[in-house]
Amino acid sequence: MTPRPLLIFDSGVGGLSVLRAIRTLLPAAPLVYVADSAGYPYGTRSPAEIEARVPALLGRLAERFDPELIVIACNTASTIALDAVRAALDLPIVGTVPAIKPAAALSKTRAIGVLGTEATVRQPYVDRLAAEFAADCTIVRHGSAGLVELAEAKLRGDAAPLEAYREIMDALFARPGGDRIDTIVLACTHFPLVAEELAAASSQPVAFVDGAEGIARRTAWLMRGRRWPDARPRHLALFTGRATDVGAYRPGLAAFGLEQVETL
Ligand code: DGL
Repeated sequence: MTPRPLLIFDSGVGGLSVLRAIRTLLPAAPLVYVADSAGYPYGTRSPAEIEARVPALLGRLAERFDPELIVIACNTASTIALDAVRAALDLPIVGTVPAIKPAAALSKTRAIGVLGTEATVRQPYVDRLAAEFAADCTIVRHGSAGLVELAEAKLRGDAAPLEAYREIMDALFARPGGDRIDTIVLACTHFPLVAEELAAASSQPVAFVDGAEGIARRTAWLMRGRRWPDARPRHLALFTGRATDVGAYRPGLAAFGLEQVETL
């Protein structure tokens, strides 16, 4: 594509929460959104699988699209494979890491929930963020593959009953220290897509924090000085799985400005 696009990558449609923030700051930038539906879900895979898959796939995508930069709009891939991707590719890579720092700035009870995939919540990366930015806070972690699936289903137009969300929130609050949580880090990019449902299903008052705006600011800073000729750029959504039911996702993707949809 000319001009060179920004490539935004996730295992599924979760990265759209990041794409939305990037479009707000860089409305003229052409975007290629890639959902690795052939590898989805990442959250139940081993770190070794993610570390092998993501740099190789991004290498192929970088060759095909020649992007200005790549945004890994996925906490699971970023907390596991960011270093490996940066070592493999010679272009700027923006990662997504759990927004523990802003959550610590916000929490009054000093109890923070970290809601992510199973793979993300057990990453040493999360321990390091907690030690550096939230040493005086209790960090309550909960991994949920079911919530990722609820967000995918929502984008396909399949709304789930609030009860499905309530079960997940209750499981977080039932963990030790969970009853004191006043701030929840949405540490999976899928989860901001269902933030309204999570808020409605919460049995205690909580604020939600995610990294999308910070990632968009970082992306805009890296792209400072770039001018794109077309005020209404064409974007592309690409699924890596040939069997993905692209038609089911089309209306949801169109709401994010992605009209052109293809499979690899
Ligand atoms: N959206 C992804 C994340 O931010 C992962 C979802 C999945 O594939 O399990 O962690």
